[in-house]
Amino acid sequence: MATANAGKQDAGAADRPSRRRALAELLTAPFKAIFGSWFAAGWISFTVGTVSAVLSCVRFLYPNALREPPMTFKVGPPEAFEEGVVRTDWKVKFGVWIVRYRNRIYALRSVCTHLGCTPNWLPSELKFKCPCHGSGFRITGINFEGPAPRPLERYAVRLAEDGQIEVDRSRILREDLGQWTEENGAWISVV
Ligand code: FES
Repeated sequence: MATANAGKQDAGAADRPSRRRALAELLTAPFKAIFGSWFAAGWISFTVGTVSAVLSCVRFLYPNALREPPMTFKVGPPEAFEEGVVRTDWKVKFGVWIVRYRNRIYALRSVCTHLGCTPNWLPSELKFKCPCHGSGFRITGINFEGPAPRPLERYAVRLAEDGQIEVDRSRILREDLGQWTEENGAWISVV
């Protein structure tokens, strides 16, 4: 009996350190989890920050001109445009409507002359309508309703050597300044 009790006591003594270790691990586990995840989060933040900084530096090596649409572009020959139709194909990329109206082809800039919003062409109402404060412009670009103080602007157009219409976005023409003349490139006459 005494031998058996001694055996149990030895086993109990042997279990004590492992129980203590288990208890210690149990108590320190939350701290390890918190500090472990903070450490990981710190590294992730550091890595993301470093990569962003490097990408920003690389981006500055390339001028904006490479990513912006060109100032001049061609839209096709005059025959490609139907009378009385506003073509919206170049609105998103170049901010331009190409219009053929009364045998003139011209490029209207899609910027409202009130505060610079982008109007929409409403074919059923034959007008450009600005969604911001309600300005309306006729198919020619002339303002007729809402707060816009002057007509839409036009970009200069010309017939290029290859027979296509070329739009020059570097040349803005304003009706209120008397710049809407054929000589200025405010339109191309078609027959
Ligand atoms: S910005 Fe177009 S009406 Fe105000």
